[in-house]
Amino acid sequence: MTLPASGKHLLAIETTCDETAAAVIRDDLQVLSSVVASQEELHRRFAGVVPEIAARAHVERLLPVIDEALRRAALQPAQIDLIAVARTPGLAGSLLVGVAAAKALAVALDRPLVALNHLHAHIYACRLAATKEIFPCLGLIVSGGHTSLYHCHSPTNFESVGGTIDDAAGEAFDKVATLLGLPYPGGPSISQAAEHGDPRAYRFPRGLTSQKQHRLNFSFSGLKTAVRYEIWGPGQPVAGPPPLTQQQVHDIAASFQHAVVESLVDKTLLALSQTGLSRLCVGGGVAANRLLRQRLQEEAARLTVELHIAPPALCTDNAVMGAIAWEMFAAGQLADLELDVLPGLVRE
Ligand code: KG4
Ligand code: ZN
Repeated sequence: MTLPASGKHLLAIETTCDETAAAVIRDDLQVLSSVVASQEELHRRFAGVVPEIAARAHVERLLPVIDEALRRAALQPAQIDLIAVARTPGLAGSLLVGVAAAKALAVALDRPLVALNHLHAHIYACRLAATKEIFPCLGLIVSGGHTSLYHCHSPTNFESVGGTIDDAAGEAFDKVATLLGLPYPGGPSISQAAEHGDPRAYRFPRGLTSQKQHRLNFSFSGLKTAVRYEIWGPGQPVAGPPPLTQQQVHDIAASFQHAVVESLVDKTLLALSQTGLSRLCVGGGVAANRLLRQRLQEEAARLTVELHIAPPALCTDNAVMGAIAWEMFAAGQLADLELDVLPGLVRE
């Protein structure tokens, strides 16, 4: 369905983790503005997102970010017709800031409110870059907090078919980067180091390759532990910089990245064959990974699967992907002022 252009404006708000974002999107999916205030510099020295710091930073940044989104779209608040906010999944304190602001705006402007599932929105990022409909499709979300597979029947009907049972893929990148003494966030620094390494130098385990009940699930914690033991040895404490040559760092990075990417690709191919879907949409921060993009492109070409990977700027957290709110609005899926946050992942 292509939504009719009637010139209405959506203000979408995103505060699920550590990016404070707002965007204005017209009902023909034209993006009028997108503002993302990253908190990367606040969390870098902890090599991971600190929830309390993230929530406080959202409080400080959200209103200026919304103002800037309106300014860039050349709109007054009264010209906003619909308000959307991501309410699940994410960090409780972070989600609360966005949801409170969205509810306040909905009351003040007397406008309808749509509550978004952040993971569904990550898939919808592909719709924004595609020139046509992307549903039905298999959706793969690979981010710092999530690794999930969805059978996406329509923009308002997502069926969870698999996901990680422990760490998310991005989290594994971030933790292994710390073990290797590489800077945060780990994804980009590992993939950079991997360019100079041999992906066959170390044979790291792939999680959940054989259990039947976990055919479409992922596990990355064993892989992370295998890297830790490779560097420090079982029973040895992790202390100071890793006792590795630069070539070993590169080889471990390449071998680790290879293991993660092969797990993601294998399970995705299995999900495609189990669901019978021939279209694949990929989103989330790890979808920016070059090797993953390349491997998915190769497999999609081999299997004549239509592949959409969100463009890098829409892979990491942003509010533009909140454009899915127009689809929910059209389907009558509105929230009321009782709306609360839902931090945990609910498998629908
Ligand atoms: O989607 P996102 O911005 O935030 C969450 O919702 O979690 O994803 C952030 C994650 C981080 O773990 C980061 O290390 C990872 O995406 N990432 C990458 C790459 N760029 C970012 N992982 C692998 N390769 C990359 N090039
Ligand atoms: Zn995300």
